[in-house]
Amino acid sequence: MAPHNFAKLDTACVPTPCHVLDLARLEHNLQILKRVGDEAGVSVLLALKAFSCFAVSDLVMKYLSGTAASGLYEARLGRTRFGGDVHAYAPGLKDADIDELLDCSDHLILNSLQQWGRFRSRIEAHGGVETGLRVNPMHSEVENPLYDPCASWSRLGAPANQVTAADLEGLSGIHVHALCDHPYDAFDRMLSAVEARCAHLFGSVEWINLGGGLLITDDGFPLERFIERLAGFRERTGLKVYIEPGTAVALHAGALVSQVLDRFDYGAPLAVMDTSATCHMPDVIEAPFTPDLLGATALPRNTAMDAVDAHVIRLGGPTCLAGDIIGTYRFEMPPQVGDRLVFLDLAYYTMVKATTFNGMPLPSLALWDSRTDALEVVKSFGYADFEGRL
Ligand SMILES: Cc1ncc(COP(=O)(O)O)c(C=O)c1O
Repeated sequence: MAPHNFAKLDTACVPTPCHVLDLARLEHNLQILKRVGDEAGVSVLLALKAFSCFAVSDLVMKYLSGTAASGLYEARLGRTRFGGDVHAYAPGLKDADIDELLDCSDHLILNSLQQWGRFRSRIEAHGGVETGLRVNPMHSEVENPLYDPCASWSRLGAPANQVTAADLEGLSGIHVHALCDHPYDAFDRMLSAVEARCAHLFGSVEWINLGGGLLITDDGFPLERFIERLAGFRERTGLKVYIEPGTAVALHAGALVSQVLDRFDYGAPLAVMDTSATCHMPDVIEAPFTPDLLGATALPRNTAMDAVDAHVIRLGGPTCLAGDIIGTYRFEMPPQVGDRLVFLDLAYYTMVKATTFNGMPLPSLALWDSRTDALEVVKSFGYADFEGRL
């Protein structure tokens, strides 16, 4: 299967800006994840922090066991809009939220032993919720410290060497998460680190959640090796195993369609789009990275713009932020005002992070089935959405 199907999309069918989700690619990803779950004997949860579009919850829940939530609101979304098991974890828990969080969750993972001590009696009084501890396996694979849960002095989980088996009394599981957009080899190394550093805890718990951060649904991912590795780990340890991918669920399944509002050359060829990096794709600035664009090649973000040819254009958003730059691209056919451009792979960590800074409208949402070309705009946002949160 091609990495994405958006070359076939008739962009005239959607308002702009608009997130378009390809149901075919989404289902393809979900089928892969279900295969991993079935063949490795593990449960696969959707990490809602990455992708929580409940317009496709029926499709997601046809294949996955439930959701992984980052706190009360996502747990409630998981419970009410998705179904299946809800596994909640947050670095900080609020006293005022705990009862409702327990009502919405099947598993609650505490970030520290201190947190466990503080909330234990309330959790036990509530009953019906399995509890675990997030453990930092102290194994870094992520180069950018912004995304490395195991960087020095991390607040994410109790360091494995500071947790004893006795500390886990009353808890039934442990949770580790150390990856971000990684291929299989990084998972293999991480799991070896978990096996080495957390082995003293395995006998005290029934389950382990191995987190997300792995590009399981990417083309070329060695599924058989992954399945074998997971199954071997499960058999050796006797633990029930969960994984909670986010990115892998929506990989290559989402695009952001945008329109060129203006073009000019003030010493550099520039275009202003009706979508904004800072509002609609904040990771572009945070990470930073340049999203792929259909029909164009992304150039480095620091490309010097004074000597480029007529096929190179820097695209920016319509906000007043000087750095609201989506990227610099070499086009086969430089776009004109009114043309629609398709930014690729902007579903995960984009829909969930959008803001209305500068009064920017939020992108609409369309569901598109690239197998049949059926397309439906299922959500549009207006002034009330902007005003309602101010
Ligand atoms: C605890 C935890 N689980 C799962 C995920 C999902 O990761 P990804 O979307 O990269 O698969 C994250 C991402 O930050 C996470 O922090």
